[in-house]
Amino acid sequence: MEITGKTKIMFVLADPIGHVRASAVLNAYFRSIDDDVAVSPLHVLPADLGAVLASIRLMRNVVGFGVTIPHKTSVIEYLDEATPEVALIGAVNFVKRTADGRLVGDNLDARGFVASLAQHRIAVRGRKVLQVGAGGAGRATAFGLAGAGTRELTIMNRDEAKARALAAAVSRRYPGTKVSAGHAEARSFDLIVNTTSLGMKIDDPLPLDLEGVGPGAAVSDIIVTPEVTPLLARAATQGARTVGGRPMLDAQMVLVAKFIAR
Ligand SMILES: NC(=O)c1ccc[n+]([C@@H]2O[C@H](COP(=O)([O-])OP(=O)(O)OC[C@H]3O[C@@H](n4cnc5c(N)ncnc54)[C@H](OP(=O)(O)O)[C@@H]3O)[C@@H](O)[C@H]2O)c1
Repeated sequence: MEITGKTKIMFVLADPIGHVRASAVLNAYFRSIDDDVAVSPLHVLPADLGAVLASIRLMRNVVGFGVTIPHKTSVIEYLDEATPEVALIGAVNFVKRTADGRLVGDNLDARGFVASLAQHRIAVRGRKVLQVGAGGAGRATAFGLAGAGTRELTIMNRDEAKARALAAAVSRRYPGTKVSAGHAEARSFDLIVNTTSLGMKIDDPLPLDLEGVGPGAAVSDIIVTPEVTPLLARAATQGARTVGGRPMLDAQMVLVAKFIAR
């Protein structure tokens, strides 16, 4: 790809930086739609975040940037504007730099997740869902599921206080969804979603027991690498439909392109 004075520039801010893949995924996506955007990882220490953002405001060919660990929440105080999703989820993953240097934050995890399920024809509306995990991504998926009309949502997490707090927040925002926190058996749910990081490492245990889960159910794991986690492999052998994390990431690429173009 040729980067010229006409190319729109984006960054991905992170610390550490070595594991960052989002820039490569974004570059591949922009290339595939023939959009002249180039994305570079930017190693930014937490103490330098404010100064870096003040500089980005002055960089007139920058259209936006992705935000990842550890800046997803701390970036909020430096923004001029944030979408309602940011207020709900409490984290940002993309920021648009407008032509006049204003910074607008959004969180595309929830919409990307719901879009990935829709693409795989996995229904959410009226369904009973078990979500494992209540971290940053889990907050997004829980609001996304309730916003898409899930009838019942049970949130299970190692730190149960976090699951309870998330369940209460989702229930306040979406009173039409019956939300609870606690341990549950997977067999009685239509959709099971893993949002924990269990499955990224080769020797991780499964995030939950899939006993009794079969062809009537769907299992989603939002982990991107490996593409097929042990949980998804197990679900598939039991006849359940499966969807991994890559489609959620891909769906966000489409949303990012729209977000920075607006
Ligand atoms: N596909 C996508 O587009 C996409 C987007 C965002 C994130 N993700 C993936 O989602 C996963 C979680 O990311 P995150 O940002 O939510 O991380 P996070 O905020 O650190 O949350 C981690 C979650 O995993 C749980 N967990 C971690 N180690 C555990 C263990 N040993 N036993 C049981 N539970 C454990 C945590 O439970 P506690 O609360 O008890 O610590 C928490 O619920 C990562 O794999 C990330 O790559 C994918």
